[in-house]
Amino acid sequence: MARTHKFVVTIDGAAGTGKSTVAQELARRLGTECLDSGAMYRAVAVLSIDRSIKPTDGAALATAIREVGIRFDWNMKPPTILLGDVDVSQRIRELDISGVLSDVAKQPEVRKVLVEQQRQIGESHPLLVTEGRDQGSVVFPHASARFFLQANVNERTKRRAKQLRARGTTVNEDVVQQDIETRDHIDLTREDGPLTCPDGATIIDTSSMSMTEVVDLMETEVTALLSR
Ligand code: DC
Repeated sequence: MARTHKFVVTIDGAAGTGKSTVAQELARRLGTECLDSGAMYRAVAVLSIDRSIKPTDGAALATAIREVGIRFDWNMKPPTILLGDVDVSQRIRELDISGVLSDVAKQPEVRKVLVEQQRQIGESHPLLVTEGRDQGSVVFPHASARFFLQANVNERTKRRAKQLRARGTTVNEDVVQQDIETRDHIDLTREDGPLTCPDGATIIDTSSMSMTEVVDLMETEVTALLSR
């Protein structure tokens, strides 16, 4: 039977729980798009640096977002992220971004604009997988399927260290663990949109699971819901 309403799958969780990887794979299996909401916060960090706007000046950042425009090019595989007409997909992963990222992501004015834009993206996709820290709890509280990923700090540290090594970075695991714990603190204590388990979400502890096992579990649940 044809579905008449939008079907959104949200995947929330802290840094290093594997949500980006599983979200992309789940979207691929479902034959649909994946919204990387973190990429939008990263694009705002680029705006802050390039336009010399203080990362704590939420009002100025929100105005700049509206003026310049942040959008994804869904025709690209994977989708690219654009600031105006400029593709910033590589730029948002550069190291200088992390210096302003948490301040930028804390600003209620910034969150308000990005939440609105994420909802519009949801409206324009019949089926969407979206991942971030607030996708099921704030942005799409009525999403058709909600998942919350958890993993212990040791495992998250190992995964992050492996990612960094794969990029050729020299890694001190104590520093990586400290960074994850700091990010947890920021995510959990943020006043606007703190990391929290969405109501009714399926909680998955990914500490001792492979990516395939996590995606299998999600796919089974989503397919059952889609066939209702
Ligand atoms: O997932 P990531 O590392 O690309 O996220 C980048 C930053 O944006 C990070 O500081 C957390 C923040 N973020 C957020 O506050 N809300 C989201 N939905 C996604 C990311």
